[in-house]
Amino acid sequence: MKANILTGKNQPLIFQETETPGCKAGEVLVHLHASAFNRRDYWIQQGQYAGLKYPVIPGSDGSGVIVKTGEGVNSALEGTSVIINPGFLWGESESAQSPTRFRILGMPDNGTFAEYVSVPVEYTFERPSHLTHLQAAALPLAGVTAYRTLFSRANLTSGEKVLITGIGGGVALFTLQFALAAGAEVWVTSGSEEKIEKAKKLGAKSGVSYRNPEWAKSLLTEAGNFDVIIDSAGGEGFPDLLNLAAFGGRIAIYGGTKGSFAALSPQKIFWKQLSILGSTMGSPEDFRNMTAFVSTHKIIPVIDTELPLSDANEGMNRLAQNTQFGKIILNHTGVL
Ligand SMILES: NC(=O)c1ccc[n+]([C@@H]2O[C@H](COP(=O)([O-])OP(=O)(O)OC[C@H]3O[C@@H](n4cnc5c(N)ncnc54)[C@H](OP(=O)(O)O)[C@@H]3O)[C@@H](O)[C@H]2O)c1
Repeated sequence: MKANILTGKNQPLIFQETETPGCKAGEVLVHLHASAFNRRDYWIQQGQYAGLKYPVIPGSDGSGVIVKTGEGVNSALEGTSVIINPGFLWGESESAQSPTRFRILGMPDNGTFAEYVSVPVEYTFERPSHLTHLQAAALPLAGVTAYRTLFSRANLTSGEKVLITGIGGGVALFTLQFALAAGAEVWVTSGSEEKIEKAKKLGAKSGVSYRNPEWAKSLLTEAGNFDVIIDSAGGEGFPDLLNLAAFGGRIAIYGGTKGSFAALSPQKIFWKQLSILGSTMGSPEDFRNMTAFVSTHKIIPVIDTELPLSDANEGMNRLAQNTQFGKIILNHTGVL
């Protein structure tokens, strides 16, 4: 098969012929029709990720068709269109993943930037019927992260007011779509006015640029306090989120793009009875609930760019430039 292989830190992906994976007991071989980029793929290429291992085929997201079943798997599944839950070996608890066993498809195990991937059958889910392979490939990692952060962790309910920071991000956009579908009022921040306008077209009430040093003050004046804040930036701007949160507010974080927090005021956290919640990807239950939610609300992922499988380096370049609004997708077959 053809695959994009990463041979080391800061190296370009090499698109070349490699062995098609086998299909062990309990596994299925998926002919991938599309895959999608996550920031994780970029961190892995940059060598800024725990447990690096090269060579590796990156890619956590994929949509395709089961073409072979391993021993012990119902062969009637062959021909089924599936998406893959990339969070393997979550463990028994809904509170958090196993600290030792949890792993993510696309490093250390070979991922989806290839024509085929083999995965344990329990990580395949029927592709939501309203989505093409191209749209469905956008969903798994970012979708489950958004779903768990918003619902399983921050317990969003209808009618609440939500702030989502850095709306250009893949997870942030799913968070916007999910929060709107759940009946919330959503405000956003972004480094780009154009992205704020695009978010408004999707249903956001309004937004401000985090590049304006007074962004938090102007947002507070315009919008008031927020019941739920979803952040993936951290960094110097994080303490402003304590001011923006309502009494009893929940601030949930799933990323740290801007690094460590500046000093946080304990008084603000305890006096306002704030909850600061960490979230990472999601359990199999979160994944099931997320795909059901997407099907019920007929949510269609926002796609920024579609590239051929052979052009994965261009996807990495786009991530480096941070100009995207929505997911960057690799089209593996050209017929979606
Ligand atoms: N814990 C998990 O399970 C999990 C899962 C997925 C991702 N992540 C992490 O979450 C982060 C986002 O990932 P992603 O794939 O959704 O993002 P992405 O598509 O790579 O986009 C990153 C976004 O960060 C935003 N940003 C940059 N500077 C910011 C600032 N000062 N304040 C607020 N936002 C800022 C940008 O928003 P604008 O373009 O609007 O300016 C940009 O679109 C990454 O750090 C990633 O590693 C964690």
